[in-house]
Amino acid sequence: MTRSTAAGGLPLPRPAVAALPRYSTAVGASSVRWRASSNESTVEPSKAILQAMDDAAKRVNRYPSLVGDGLATDIAARLGVSRSQVVVGGGSISLLQQALSAYTGNGTEVIYSWRSYEAYPILIGIADATKVPVPLDAEATHDLEAMLRAITGRTSAIIVCNPNNPTGTEVSKKGLVDFLDRVPSNVLVLLDEAYREFGAGEIDGVDLLDRYPNLVVLRTFSKAYGLAGLRAGYLVASEEIAGNVQATALPFGLNLIAEAAARAAWADKSHVDQIVETVKSSRRNLRAELEVRGLKTPVSGSNFVWIPLTTNTLLLEQYCVEEGVSVRAFNGEGVRVTVGEPLAEEAVLKAVDRFLQEER
Ligand SMILES: Cc1ncc(COP(=O)(O)O)c(C=O)c1O
Repeated sequence: MTRSTAAGGLPLPRPAVAALPRYSTAVGASSVRWRASSNESTVEPSKAILQAMDDAAKRVNRYPSLVGDGLATDIAARLGVSRSQVVVGGGSISLLQQALSAYTGNGTEVIYSWRSYEAYPILIGIADATKVPVPLDAEATHDLEAMLRAITGRTSAIIVCNPNNPTGTEVSKKGLVDFLDRVPSNVLVLLDEAYREFGAGEIDGVDLLDRYPNLVVLRTFSKAYGLAGLRAGYLVASEEIAGNVQATALPFGLNLIAEAAARAAWADKSHVDQIVETVKSSRRNLRAELEVRGLKTPVSGSNFVWIPLTTNTLLLEQYCVEEGVSVRAFNGEGVRVTVGEPLAEEAVLKAVDRFLQEER
């Protein structure tokens, strides 16, 4: 068989790769004074975390453990699950990619809400599965009923982002349980709880695993644990599913320093509490200040606030950048502002004031 080639005789990628949406970056993210565009923590690593990284750095002439056993064992012990139910890796996004590559693929469909985390359509594309986006409801929350209606005989997986990025909304426990009751047991449900620690705490995906063996919970050290730059996350599922996800992992996927830091962060409850408290107080303040200005924002269970804005979205983003802070704008939909730095929030409010004045 003759393979087709690109201009100049170069190899062509798989069609699914050529069609992949690209990750976008926020305007000004690399040049502004404050970055409120990537949902990072504004709190620096604790002394215990820095010490653990320092100790690990002395050992980087050696490979880390094959599958991050130390961290996975710590996580399993605290969550009350077996070690073989936990998979760790270089960020929860890489674990999501592993799960999609293990359970979906050409000829299958993956359902997800939209707008949600921009990585989802990319990862589904990489897995060569068909994307089935389902619009959020009028409250910018997952429309679980519509997601159920989207299930076909080809559905291999459904992603539920709770709390949702970028709207910050959460589904109710009753809504989620009703949904899980009705998803066929041969369809994988990937519950992305990246922001769980900042939320109402009504839902704990891990508690639901016994009742729903097709459920997979994804969590991260990037947000409430404040380690976005290191890349560490974990997945919890039945032993069988976790084993299959583990089988798709690259060896040594969690680096030595990331594992040491994640273990230290996992043990350092006061550090997580500090990050969560910082976020909650900034979030409360920013939402109240926006409301005073007539901008109603959805209740957020995340480390960001969503400002719904169907017109001039990019103009507000530009004004924020001019005030020295990058935010995340989705044209015609809204602007997402990561919270945790009061000076950055003041700058956003100045930009909002200017924006509203010009709108009038
Ligand atoms: C919903 C959601 N899931 C996963 C991630 C990525 O997490 P990680 O840094 O662990 O790959 C993000 C990052 O912004 C996110 O918003």
